[in-house]
Amino acid sequence: MSTSITGYVHGHSENEHQRLNDQADTLAGLLHGDTTFPAGSRVLEVGCGVGAQTLTLATRSPDARFTSIDIDAGSVHEARRRADAAGLRNVEFRQADLFALPFAPASFDHAFVCFVLEHLSRPVDALAALRTLLRPGGTMTVIEGDHGPTVFHPDSAAAREAIACQVALQRRAGGDACIGRALYPLLCAAGYGAVQVHPRVVYADASRPALVEGFTRRTFTAMIAGVREPAVAAGLIDAARFDEGLAALDRTTQPDGSFLYVFFKGTASAPVS
Ligand SMILES: C[S@@+](CC[C@H](N)C(=O)[O-])C[C@H]1O[C@@H](n2cnc3c(N)ncnc32)[C@H](O)[C@@H]1O
Repeated sequence: MSTSITGYVHGHSENEHQRLNDQADTLAGLLHGDTTFPAGSRVLEVGCGVGAQTLTLATRSPDARFTSIDIDAGSVHEARRRADAAGLRNVEFRQADLFALPFAPASFDHAFVCFVLEHLSRPVDALAALRTLLRPGGTMTVIEGDHGPTVFHPDSAAAREAIACQVALQRRAGGDACIGRALYPLLCAAGYGAVQVHPRVVYADASRPALVEGFTRRTFTAMIAGVREPAVAAGLIDAARFDEGLAALDRTTQPDGSFLYVFFKGTASAPVS
């Protein structure tokens, strides 16, 4: 099996690399606070991108051995550079397609997937393929977002239309920007046991300036801004309306504004028999 990332909605630009790093830095505690891997365990990180999550994971579990893969060679190169700069010695990076990984069955004790399934047209097949690489009883951790429950104040129809453009473009590329809510059935359908999914809510208002800057502005709004040109080119919205939506998202970062987003974190086990 193989897949393609043609049309990958976020792209691989410098801005997107920075956005992924800002997102990871801002959300490290919320998303990874309860994730550590035991000393000596073999961890497969799938779709590592520029290593934004890798640095957090490998730092928090210094005695686990990470193999981090991504289909995009440029991202892998940047991830390796950043891990070297951080002095990490417990991560090996490889460029590979998750549907055709060069590892024997049961090679890993744990697998970790963050913000990758949302871009795949066959997420169940992806999870099932990764399950075969886990030893019996090995664990899978998956983190995905979901644009559906996003609410903000002041509310804005233009902002919701701009967000809907991103959802539509991702769907056209074969992905699902609202996949978080489906993690439980996806993991079950892929043959995992002991499936548990928990929502992780990001809420930002003026009392949490780091989240306003790191999440509302530099993660979420930056992501929506990144689809401005393709959304307009596809005729989903006109440029002025999209810009009105962006301005409305920025408006939520004012002292009387607020912003809420929901991530979903799932854990599951490869069957023992
Ligand atoms: C939104 S980025 C997330 C990167 C990283 N996990 C993070 O949270 O910062 C999604 C990544 O999945 C990678 N990807 C997409 N399809 C893939 C595939 N079939 N095999 C391996 N990586 C893939 C992309 O190249 C991209 O780097």
